[in-house]
Amino acid sequence: MSHLSFVMTADGSKTIFNEKIGENYHSRHGALQESQHVFLKSGLIHFLEKHQVTKASVLEVGFGTGLNFLVTADYCLKNKIELDYTGIEAYPLNVEMIAQTGYGDYIPDSLWNNFLNKYPKALNEPSEIDTLCSVRIIEKELLQFTSQKQFDVIYFDAFAAIHQAEMWNLDSLTHISKFIKPGGIFVTYAITGELKRTMKSLGFSIEKAPGAPGKREMLRASKL
Ligand SMILES: C[S@@+](CC[C@H](N)C(=O)[O-])C[C@H]1O[C@@H](n2cnc3c(N)ncnc32)[C@H](O)[C@@H]1O
Repeated sequence: MSHLSFVMTADGSKTIFNEKIGENYHSRHGALQESQHVFLKSGLIHFLEKHQVTKASVLEVGFGTGLNFLVTADYCLKNKIELDYTGIEAYPLNVEMIAQTGYGDYIPDSLWNNFLNKYPKALNEPSEIDTLCSVRIIEKELLQFTSQKQFDVIYFDAFAAIHQAEMWNLDSLTHISKFIKPGGIFVTYAITGELKRTMKSLGFSIEKAPGAPGKREMLRASKL
């Protein structure tokens, strides 16, 4: 994993720079803030409040370091929300690298330690992090992912389109859309005219939501 190195972001949380792709795993304006704002607040919390429910399934595209999972699991455990989390990741990090992110500083020790212990198993099967929370990471490319299940919320956290255009094209977005329930929410940190048009054509209603620090807007799409 010599093409991966740690980089500090503006809020003091670390991210990883992927030299092959030429891009960071998170916003350089703040990895933790981006995760909390785009995925937890604008995605999961929005879904829970809209539907007045206390359980949810989340599907993440690009599990990476697991930061989005950790902030989501932390919120769910504190608020007694039942969380069933699946990540799709073509190139899973090893647990040693995840341990070096320092993300344990932002969550309770019990969650951090359970996550590090269960991560290798979670690459093979759904693994309980707590009685209320399970995680599974599927080692596949997005287009190879398949599931009988549909999910309440999709966290779409692919590298930016300028670096990995194929993740944002019609084929990829059509594929991932199959796995979202009616009434489900799709969130991503980016927003472009083309992305909005594509999501609309796939049967979503589109909303421009305020972006994370450093970005004016982000996309939230609700499956009709
Ligand atoms: C922007 S980073 C995601 C960061 C991650 N959510 C985190 O919190 O660390 C994009 C991720 O997508 C993964 N990836 C790249 N190509 C992929 C593909 N075709 N299918 C699934 N994942 C892919 C990368 O390995 C990387 O982990």
